[in-house]
Amino acid sequence: MSNRPFQHGMTPSQNHDEVAREEAVRVMRFHLYSQVSQGTRAYFTNVVAPEFAKAEQRPLTDRAEVRRVMEDKPYVKFHLSLQRSVQEVMWNTVIENIERQLPEMNGRAHALDRGLGSLSLDPALEVPRYVANVDIHCMPGGYGYDAGLDDSVAAGAIYDRGISMYGRGSEGFLGQSVIAYLKKNFPNLRPAKILDMGCTIGLSTLRYAEAFPDAELHAVDVAAPCLRYGHARAESLGRKVHYSQQNAERTSFADASFDVVISTILAHETSTQAWKNILAESHRLLKPGGVMVHADLPQFADIDVYSQFLFGNETKFNNEPFWSTFRAMDLKQAMIEAGFASDQCYLDIAEHTDAQQGMRNTKMAGKSPTGFGWGVQVGIK
Ligand SMILES: C[S@@+](CC[C@H](N)C(=O)[O-])C[C@H]1O[C@@H](n2cnc3c(N)ncnc32)[C@H](O)[C@@H]1O
Repeated sequence: MSNRPFQHGMTPSQNHDEVAREEAVRVMRFHLYSQVSQGTRAYFTNVVAPEFAKAEQRPLTDRAEVRRVMEDKPYVKFHLSLQRSVQEVMWNTVIENIERQLPEMNGRAHALDRGLGSLSLDPALEVPRYVANVDIHCMPGGYGYDAGLDDSVAAGAIYDRGISMYGRGSEGFLGQSVIAYLKKNFPNLRPAKILDMGCTIGLSTLRYAEAFPDAELHAVDVAAPCLRYGHARAESLGRKVHYSQQNAERTSFADASFDVVISTILAHETSTQAWKNILAESHRLLKPGGVMVHADLPQFADIDVYSQFLFGNETKFNNEPFWSTFRAMDLKQAMIEAGFASDQCYLDIAEHTDAQQGMRNTKMAGKSPTGFGWGVQVGIK
């Protein structure tokens, strides 16, 4: 797989030093998630867990207890502080690159608009606190960051560059997993209208455009800078998407508008109540027989106790306030409360489709044939 950023009309330019710096961060991330992280797992499995079992005469099965015995170990401290540092260096690297060319990029976004799809912004929209007040995953300014400019694409550009370091150039990998899941489990699905909720800059959305070229594709997000960037990106790639700035908890679409309602890694960035509202909105928006698929990282119940400890670090050290509460939520019950019949909604695994190394320290033993995948909430109306 190439490490070169995927090229499109909005791709920021990079000088020699910026290419080198980005590559250094990418390699550092890879080392962290493949080597350092595996070292911590081995240390837990071979040393910490057996010592605990010997001393306490019982196995370590509780994630809070894992934290208690792991957190003060020097190797673990080194791992966790390195993880936080790499995250901060990653965003700083990206931000310096974007800020030096932001006015040009804002202008470029206007110039790329050739009216293929559409962009509808709502300056009066009240952005929910769980987005507006959080620099999520330590991304400075969060999804709404606009550098004080009215027509800014800042947060969209920053997210695009940052996420490419997470995915190591595997563009839209989440959407690819969802498509593979839909094609395998709903082979007769021929959607006329699709809604992607929490689309950010449309990385997954454009995968749906490729996979279902006859469908009318809508994508909503609350963050205007991400939508501006995503719209311009889609136009530059010749993809027709209707982007609108809306809260997925209560959109303006009519009842029974869509054959498919999708989201990718939206759930864990919303509050418990917001996610319940989004499930109810998904149900309202589906046509009878329509399919909802919301993909995210797996629930605590689907992963081993060491991975649960790793997941918890996202809440503790990476500004992901809802990460852990979402993992413990009863999603089946939430789908039923949202209106889905009990025998028409379930939790499943959508396999990874390609090398998603950034996520591969979380193993779902026994739950997925390959041991790697996304947790999906599926509902049929
Ligand atoms: C992790 S990103 C999603 C990534 C994207 N789906 C992809 O596959 O690349 C989460 C996005 O959800 C948006 N978001 C959070 N809460 C929302 C809500 N209630 N309605 C619409 N968008 C929301 C955020 O602004 C952010 O852009």
